[in-house]
Amino acid sequence: MKLDQCHTIDDLRQAAKKRIPKLAFDYLDGGEGDETGLSLNSSAFKDIKLLPHYMRGVRERSHKVNLFGKSYDFPIGIPPIGMANFIWPQTDLILARLAKKHNIPYIASTAGTTKLEVIAEEIPDHTWFQLYVSAEDRVTFDLVRRAENAGIKVLVVTVDIPVPAMRLRDVRNHFELPFRLTPAMALNIARYPSWIWKMMTLGTPKFENMSPYVTRDAENTPKAEFMASQITDKLDVDLMKKIRDAWSGTLVVKGVMSEEDAMIAAELGADGIIVSNHGGRQLSSAPATIDVVGSIKQTVGERLTVMLDSGVRSGADIVKAMCRGAEFSFSGRSFVYGVGAGDVAGAERVFQILRDDLDRTITQIGCADVNDLGPEYLWKGNQTDD
Ligand SMILES: Cc1cc2nc3c(=O)[nH]c(=O)nc-3n(C[C@H](O)[C@H](O)[C@H](O)COP(=O)(O)O)c2cc1C
Repeated sequence: MKLDQCHTIDDLRQAAKKRIPKLAFDYLDGGEGDETGLSLNSSAFKDIKLLPHYMRGVRERSHKVNLFGKSYDFPIGIPPIGMANFIWPQTDLILARLAKKHNIPYIASTAGTTKLEVIAEEIPDHTWFQLYVSAEDRVTFDLVRRAENAGIKVLVVTVDIPVPAMRLRDVRNHFELPFRLTPAMALNIARYPSWIWKMMTLGTPKFENMSPYVTRDAENTPKAEFMASQITDKLDVDLMKKIRDAWSGTLVVKGVMSEEDAMIAAELGADGIIVSNHGGRQLSSAPATIDVVGSIKQTVGERLTVMLDSGVRSGADIVKAMCRGAEFSFSGRSFVYGVGAGDVAGAERVFQILRDDLDRTITQIGCADVNDLGPEYLWKGNQTDD
């Protein structure tokens, strides 16, 4: 499918599926357990109806939002995607440059395949850094120090991985860390020559941010093994406070799903939260973020910037999230589907699709400025979360 025939994120997903080997596509596309959480993330957005208002003169429209003292041109950002360059080569840099071009934030991942310093140099004003708390404090606090030295202003601490998730597609594909390529997978990969060619010419992706901490000197597998060994169940409020103390910039907690955790974030002095279920990748039984964001906003909205991800696939979804109380959204898989479907042009297509749909939607419902979105635009027949 050609890019100009892709009119939705799902069209791009289908196009990406044709270019990415199964192993990598499933890693991107899949969720935890039976994937009911993954489906719920989409269906919960679809279940919400917007109430249009007309005769309001909406010729002058604005999509701009302010976050932590900086103005962004559009209320969507690119969240952290670990191992992105394995899904499609150069995804990290393609998306980072897209973020700069459109003045939106890009969150570099601890599990990234491009060094955080490289991203920060490429797009200094748009890089946020996402921290996975490591099993070893020396690693955690060194990553914090590196982010600060790189001039990054926003640190996003992901709290929702206390244990490796059971992602069945990855298990069935034998895509576990440490990675072992089975003959069946090798045969499948052979059907994707452009992916293979890029991998061969650009080099096998590695966990670049973790390289300095690997004590063994061998290359790929030990790093993956090391990465797996870093997933930890030890994160508690005390450690979060130490991270707060070590970081003088803006602190965001990612993976908040309850009012209690939102209160903890507020109490420890965070500046914002991302209400997230990790895109359905950690707990299949978790609710959809769009269904919990309203009560979280009511609890901490005065103290914290409340953002959301998980399941956002259209401009209308961004509008719904804002009507329910999120000030900003992120969409993970959408942007990577775009890169998989068509490299730089594919990423650009994702942005166009989201932007045009958001613009049409706010025009249609009679709201000229995204900052004015609120419950007024939600149909009262929707089930609410409060
Ligand atoms: C392939 C993949 C890798 C991810 N890697 C990370 C990561 O390294 N750190 C993190 O905090 N979240 C990670 N996430 C979660 C995303 O940041 C985000 O929360 C999620 O993709 C949002 O859901 P969506 O894909 O439905 O938009 C990853 C998600 C995907 C799909």
